[in-house]
Amino acid sequence: MPLLQLKQIYPFLICPRCKSNLVASRSELRCARADCIHSTAGAFPQVDHWPVLVDFTTSVLDLSVMVATQAQSVVPRGGRSRRLEALKNALFAPNSVAGDNLERLKRELPRNGRSQVLIVGGGGGGNGTKTLFADENLDLIAFDIYATPLTQFIADGHQIPLADGSVDAVVIQAVLEHVLDPAQVVAEIHRVLAPGGVVYAETPFLQQVHEGPYDFTRFTESGHRYLFRKFTLLDSGIIGGPGTQLLWSIDYLARSLFRSRLAGGVTKALFFWVRLLDRLCPYPYAVDSASGCYFLGRRSDREISPREIIKYYRGAQISGNSN
Ligand SMILES: C[S@@+](CC[C@H](N)C(=O)[O-])C[C@H]1O[C@@H](n2cnc3c(N)ncnc32)[C@H](O)[C@@H]1O
Ligand SMILES: [Zn+2]
Repeated sequence: MPLLQLKQIYPFLICPRCKSNLVASRSELRCARADCIHSTAGAFPQVDHWPVLVDFTTSVLDLSVMVATQAQSVVPRGGRSRRLEALKNALFAPNSVAGDNLERLKRELPRNGRSQVLIVGGGGGGNGTKTLFADENLDLIAFDIYATPLTQFIADGHQIPLADGSVDAVVIQAVLEHVLDPAQVVAEIHRVLAPGGVVYAETPFLQQVHEGPYDFTRFTESGHRYLFRKFTLLDSGIIGGPGTQLLWSIDYLARSLFRSRLAGGVTKALFFWVRLLDRLCPYPYAVDSASGCYFLGRRSDREISPREIIKYYRGAQISGNSN
């Protein structure tokens, strides 16, 4: 697996608070700036072998919870058998575009030598990321806010503890809705990307709340593109159309009526065919009622203007069209 060892990343790690270099002494990391609160021993807790490179004074993360739970996810995750997961994927096909989009991302990487790819919020891997984990020409770096074998360190996307220009690509799937300030996270992605580096993001548009108190924002396809305004567009589009988002609504309606998540799941399985209606919906209509959207772009120093984003709109409601 091309996931780098933690020690291989040491040269790129910086303090999440003051952005100074880190020093490693006896396998402990500290900030090199003497007047930074992270320069003292134990300032970055270590959970098992995962350093926790978080500035707890500004993060939604709580140090005492992190230590008490040994950096396990505070949101319940996984637990499903492989068979159940395969059945769920067959019925609901959560995302059929990610694999192709990540192949495209790889084609946009510089061709000379190895490329460094950062996965933000990569604790669970992510849809279509097999192509990244199987590619021996990539060096993968990944972090999340909890400890998993697919990450090298724990960090908060609002303050990425990596040096400026240290990676060639960033992948961020289904994470921006879970951060308090998506624009700050995108600014951090821009900062850690090398000139010409590429980003691939997927974010929900019409989806109900998931991950409980850790769910804050949704984006239209235009809003998502504007969030990445300091990037040149390579590709963008939707993930799941009106049928897919209706299936989410059916699930959450049944959950509400029967006060039961299981009832939602069963009802969703009965109505799995609703998702197939996506195939009948022309793209402009689907954009206005999509389940999620994606953006693939190249880091730029120019940002698109507010008027450009109005021209950018790809939906069915253009002026003069009453449909
Ligand atoms: C819906 S899951 C998506 C997981 C995975 N990327 C995928 O596509 O399957 C959201 C992920 O975002 C992570 N996350 C939430 N807040 C974060 C933050 N502030 N910084 C980095 N990751 C965060 C969660 O821990 C979780 O792994
Ligand atoms: Zn510092």
